[in-house]
Amino acid sequence: MVFLVAKSSRNRFSPRNPFTGAVYLTIFCIMFVLYMIYPSNLITQRVESLHLHVNHAGNISQRPSLDCFLDQNRLQSLQQLYKLGDNIEYARRYVRFHRQNIPRTVVTIINNELFPKGFDEVDIRNPPPATICLQPLDVLVPQSRGPHSVDASDLLFGISTTYKRLMDPKASPVKQWAHWLTDGQEKSNGAGLILRLVDASTEEIEEVKDNMKSIGIDIKVSAADSSVEMAKRYLALLPALYNETSRRHRRYLAMCDDDTFFPSMGSLLERLSEFDHTSDLYLGTLSEDVNNIQRHGSQAFGGAGVFFSVPLAAKVADAYENCSTAEKIKQANTGWGPQGDILLRQCIYEHTEATLTLIRDLHQLDIMGDPAGFYEAGLAPLSLHHFKGGMWHEAHPLEGAQIIHTCGEACFLQRFQTSDNFIVSNGFSVAYYPKGIDFNLHQVERTFTAAPQDYGWNLDFMMGPQRMSLVRTGRKVAWELKESEILDDRAVRQTYIRMADDQRWTYGAEGNKMFEKDGVLELIWISS
Ligand SMILES: *[C@@H]1O[C@H](CO)[C@@H](O)[C@H](O)[C@H]1NC(C)=O
Ligand SMILES: *[C@@H]1O[C@H](CO)[C@@H](O)[C@H](O)[C@H]1NC(C)=O
Ligand SMILES: *[C@@H]1O[C@H](CO)[C@@H](O)[C@H](O)[C@H]1NC(C)=O
Repeated sequence: MVFLVAKSSRNRFSPRNPFTGAVYLTIFCIMFVLYMIYPSNLITQRVESLHLHVNHAGNISQRPSLDCFLDQNRLQSLQQLYKLGDNIEYARRYVRFHRQNIPRTVVTIINNELFPKGFDEVDIRNPPPATICLQPLDVLVPQSRGPHSVDASDLLFGISTTYKRLMDPKASPVKQWAHWLTDGQEKSNGAGLILRLVDASTEEIEEVKDNMKSIGIDIKVSAADSSVEMAKRYLALLPALYNETSRRHRRYLAMCDDDTFFPSMGSLLERLSEFDHTSDLYLGTLSEDVNNIQRHGSQAFGGAGVFFSVPLAAKVADAYENCSTAEKIKQANTGWGPQGDILLRQCIYEHTEATLTLIRDLHQLDIMGDPAGFYEAGLAPLSLHHFKGGMWHEAHPLEGAQIIHTCGEACFLQRFQTSDNFIVSNGFSVAYYPKGIDFNLHQVERTFTAAPQDYGWNLDFMMGPQRMSLVRTGRKVAWELKESEILDDRAVRQTYIRMADDQRWTYGAEGNKMFEKDGVLELIWISS
């Protein structure tokens, strides 16, 4: 009963301030009385949903809209993992996507509310049996591929890293690699990986090879010698890729960092198919930060991924000795140690007529701080990088990209604006704008900073001038994706979390909290 009262008096999304308490109490009482007088249809819905849950035996595709059961074990495990308070605000919405022959626009306007009944007040120690049951929200999405139908055998990748990094539970890129090198069902998508492990032992090499093969990655592993200058080791990777027998049936040899993520391999291949792979091609992108171009020069920044046509790789392989002399390595040092990317550019520019062709949807992501503005810009990135925290930003693109397994590649980071002032950036955040959406959605919100000198305009030539950040203004609050789970082949559940003490979601000079409780939103995407 306590729950039901709290629920009926639920604060819909407006920011709180110290004076609202009394108002809430009054509303509590009024609503309570109303609740007693008029039997709410919520009660019926709850009973109904519970009943259906018990009966439907987990077949979500058959009864997609009706599972409103609140699982205390799940809430408790979320609480432990994300350090949620006992009392949270919770909401769940099923989103039913309809794949149509439509383009991927900057934002998709939905003439419906995302959370028309607000949030449940949930005490995790004693949760109600069910959450508010709503009909699924119907949305249109472009038709696009999922990993099961991608043939990436045109591509052979080279990566250099260490055994230690692969084994590090936090830094390990293995799951991310599986996303772009397999069909999602532990079978290779055809792309090959040549992995160099710096100073690895034979046992380590065997272990890594076996592990990767067992999850479907088509891989060859060998050791690299740390006594060779790093930039030279990097350059040597391209001749090594060219040397592979499988090169004969590849169109592109590619190099990237161990923290490069390709969310949508089908779209990447589609983009590459626009070029003539029989010509000399050096494809990649610049840093977003003019500082880094001024400092290091104009070349493909390897973290975004660099793609070489086989004929160009042949020329680099031929010129390798001349390109990696002590003098060339010295030239590649811009004061930050010799750079492999520079060594490569020098080699290509001095020995061939090719110059860099930009693929602007590849992203080096030389940004620090809160990356939300980038991920919430409605982009369809072909690569992502530097998202593992530390000096750079932190994001969870692997978790976000799970949506492509049901909804297709175009769905990842697609934006939906609902009539109650929410914007869902699918797989990154659910943002709410209590004062309305009165800013330019074609611009990136400047939530992040550039490194190390931020002039304010460093990133403008790649991202366009950015709009001002809404952090700490009380005009925005966002629940950010923490996990997503493929429930069956037609449904993905995304869990978005907002912490009450997140400094970003405050307003006023005193830093008033917009919400007093931590919040959990679950979106369950189901196919029509
Ligand atoms: C689940 O749904 C599928 C597809 O509608 C159906 O073929 C299958 O029999 C259902 N399974 C159960 C246990 O109801
Ligand atoms: C290419 O392969 C040949 C023959 O297997 C070998 O001698 C050479 O060292 C290899 N070159 C590179 C750069 O791996
Ligand atoms: C490498 O340098 C040597 C000596 O300067 C030159 O004879 C040779 O043609 C060069 N090779 C390439 C591929 O440029």
